[in-house]
Amino acid sequence: MKGLILSGGKGTRLYPLTYTKAKQLIPVANKPVLVRVIEAIRDAGITEIGIVTGDTEPEIREAIGRGGRWGVEVTYIPQPQPLGLAHAVKISADFLGDDKFVMFLGDNVIEGGISPLIEEFAHSDWNSQIVLTRIENPQQYGVVELNDKGDIIRLVEKPKEPPSDLALVGIYMFDNHIMRAVNEIAPSARGELEITDAIQWLVTNGYKVRPYIHRGWWIDTGRPDDMLEANDYALEELEHVVDGYVDRDSSVDKRVTIEKGAEVINSVVRGPSIIGRGSRIINSYVGPFTSIYHNVTIENSEIEHSMVLENSVVRDIQGRIQDSLIGRNAVVESSPTKPKTHKLTLGDYSSIGIL
Ligand code: TTP
Repeated sequence: MKGLILSGGKGTRLYPLTYTKAKQLIPVANKPVLVRVIEAIRDAGITEIGIVTGDTEPEIREAIGRGGRWGVEVTYIPQPQPLGLAHAVKISADFLGDDKFVMFLGDNVIEGGISPLIEEFAHSDWNSQIVLTRIENPQQYGVVELNDKGDIIRLVEKPKEPPSDLALVGIYMFDNHIMRAVNEIAPSARGELEITDAIQWLVTNGYKVRPYIHRGWWIDTGRPDDMLEANDYALEELEHVVDGYVDRDSSVDKRVTIEKGAEVINSVVRGPSIIGRGSRIINSYVGPFTSIYHNVTIENSEIEHSMVLENSVVRDIQGRIQDSLIGRNAVVESSPTKPKTHKLTLGDYSSIGIL
């Protein structure tokens, strides 16, 4: 079996973070989402992985390389434009050959332990297996209607009136019949080749598509709040270790990871949370559900339930920063000069809450 990861797309819903960074490389509990996906595929015993890329290909190549670090062999498949998930499958035909494969969306984060499901498909005679989960807002997803016996009746993409609350999680397994399907379907009203239409084609033409209902957590990290939620779950799942330096004046909870080369000085860190390598927490409070990535400085400040990406600085902030996603190389600090104002340099599409 092979693995196919879709990492093209534009990531517009995560602007401004994704102006300068592929959303699949944003770290959740300090591990990029794409790396989480690669590891899930590898844990199912798959070593050949194709990554479909768009404009951010150079950055993805730089981060992942040929995959040796994870024991896999990566092939890059450029997609000139994000013309849909089924289009991504279509352009991967040479890489996939006649093999069965598992396809992951490169921006979805799912609870650990999905690998046995993939192995089960490898040894089955199903043509496809799709992963579903019950959600509250199915309008935004591919939705599947099942009959009383649990067989698929139909699939619809982003329906205004959803026929069920079962949404397609971004993990799909196929045998080579999907190639016929993606060649038979026409683009949807939004101009994309939809994977739901391709799966519907399999169902309509009598191929065996097995629906599997996943009961653990799953997050499509499309928007900033989703990123924070995925971060919450991933921090809870993490096996925490302290490899960095914590001075005697600091207090650090059990469920805290301090990476090698990180320093905590005269501060309190409450778990679950993680402080990345090269980062310094000085005279500060880092509360639960916070991920501080690499080479960040938090000084004389309080922060909780937030993510701070690499090389950023939070200094001398009065009041607590909460529910925030701070990008790379950002500086958040109090301005000592009068008048007492908010002095802001924000990127396009930034969002900030001020009392
Ligand atoms: P989406 O989240 O549907 O699309 P997007 O990344 O363009 O985001 P936004 O809506 O915020 O602009 O894509 C899901 C995943 O699939 C994501 O990792 C990008 C990838 N993808 C492709 O690789 N090719 C495609 O043609 C599309 C539509 C998505």
